[in-house]
Amino acid sequence: MKAAKQELAKGLNEFVGGVIPKDKLTAMMQMPQKAGMGDFAIHCSPFQKVLGFDNPGEAAQFIADNAEFPEYISAESQNGFLNFFINSDYLANQTLDQVIEQGEDYGRNNIGEDKLVVFDYSAPNIGKPLHVGHIRSTILGDSLIKIMQFSGYETFGINYLGDVGLHIAKTVAAYDLWSSPEKLAKNPEEEILNLYVRFNKEMADNPELEEKAKLTAKKIEEGDLATTKTLDFISEMSMDAFNRVYNLLDVQFDEITGQSKFSDKGKEVIQSMLEKGVAEKTEDGAVVVSLDEYKLPEKVVLKSDGTAIYATQDLGAATYRKEHFDFDKLLYVVANEQEQYFKQIFGILDKAGNDWADDCFHVSFGMINLADGKMSTREGTIVYLEEVLDKSTLMAKKVIDEKNPDLENKEDVAKMVGVGAVKYMVLGVDYPKNIEFSWERALNFEGNSAPYIQYAHARASSILRKNGSSAEYEVTHIESDSEKQLVKQLAMFPLRVEAAVEKYKPHIIANYAYELSSAFNAFYNTVSVKDAGDQKETKLALVQSYVTTVNNAMDLLGIQLPEEM
Ligand code: ARG
Repeated sequence: MKAAKQELAKGLNEFVGGVIPKDKLTAMMQMPQKAGMGDFAIHCSPFQKVLGFDNPGEAAQFIADNAEFPEYISAESQNGFLNFFINSDYLANQTLDQVIEQGEDYGRNNIGEDKLVVFDYSAPNIGKPLHVGHIRSTILGDSLIKIMQFSGYETFGINYLGDVGLHIAKTVAAYDLWSSPEKLAKNPEEEILNLYVRFNKEMADNPELEEKAKLTAKKIEEGDLATTKTLDFISEMSMDAFNRVYNLLDVQFDEITGQSKFSDKGKEVIQSMLEKGVAEKTEDGAVVVSLDEYKLPEKVVLKSDGTAIYATQDLGAATYRKEHFDFDKLLYVVANEQEQYFKQIFGILDKAGNDWADDCFHVSFGMINLADGKMSTREGTIVYLEEVLDKSTLMAKKVIDEKNPDLENKEDVAKMVGVGAVKYMVLGVDYPKNIEFSWERALNFEGNSAPYIQYAHARASSILRKNGSSAEYEVTHIESDSEKQLVKQLAMFPLRVEAAVEKYKPHIIANYAYELSSAFNAFYNTVSVKDAGDQKETKLALVQSYVTTVNNAMDLLGIQLPEEM
């Protein structure tokens, strides 16, 4: 499909003597959903002007009659559109050849060649558990990294841990008051959270605690030995808990760096902004940057007592990353609550004369709502991510016990299905939108879900197990609609990858994997491979191509596909 699209753009460009650029023509090319309207279609109003016709319809007819396209493409004019039809036998041969020859590499492109993207993602806060809200950043970041690597980018993924701030000072202070290493070691996650909650509660009646928290914060910033030791201990416990979840999700980072590392760098950056007149001191000594020219409210970047804040560290971290990595893009995968904040940060960087501020991008994602309430174990307060994944795995196990009680590696498969279901639920939704999380949909074997795709893949794998994969095939003629549709879906994959990478949108791949698998299921329900006679090899090649392509697609989402389920 990709080659056909390029050849069409080339043909049209030549036909109008190069007046409409190829890029523009490629961008104008649509893929109609309705049958009978072609594999590609282009509206002819731009040609009307160039070719001097009164309406797009006449232009379309003229082009259809006179332009030369490759022989495997036919053109029809319809309502001002040119509809292009690709010969299905040609497409089948070409696509199967490509998929089978390229295997794991089918769908790759080199859009990102020689470019480096740095990711800032996951980024939970020490002292607080990873909850469902964090899952989106972690899973989205992980998938984007995979998609960008598949498109030739070099990537570097940073987990920017929240290891400073008042909430941590409170936890450290509370630990000193009420806890011990033994207590903490017993159930670290809960103990740490409880300390924080208790501190806040008691602080309401006891203002001395607030002073204590501030003092602790100061000690942390000054590097006081005893305080730092406590903080390190708490961090370690927190990190162990995070790592359990990262292991479940199979997510790895190139680097895990605390926010606190960038306080000094941030202060340096801000000092030079003061010198350049980009930032200014207020009467009470805080440093602010006015952002009128960006139509944004002014931003405090340093507190009046000279201590660093969230923005200080982000300015330091971004500058450090540019100096250290010389990235082509820096992507922040962070919830949309921080949308204005990142606009301000990028605005400040730009105002200070950093031309690379334009290369920073906030992948600003929506919330996850727990639609059926069942996921919320503690009256909607905090839902532990680990609990969600465990529950999902358990539910998957139940289904497998019913459907396929004799399956050998049930535990492993249940994990692939359970974790996959949660990942797919998260990745299947366009990132700016909120997610209405529903167990019913996540684990619905019949709907747009990971288990649906996994099940289709298991069916296909079973066909290959029973019949062997195809060594010799030659598509002579493809008759059935379901086969034509499957070929078309297979051929679409490289274009979908390009769309996903250009827009930072894994949901394009998720939805594609579903459409592809629906096409496979339709094929499965109507075509018998076993009884296909001399067409058997060809049908096997189709099944094999499906297996390869769906694996490549799901790999980009970090979702595993069991051979059997
Ligand atoms: N730790 C922050 C939070 O949980 C997210 C950090 C995002 N990254 C950044 N560079 N600010 O809200």
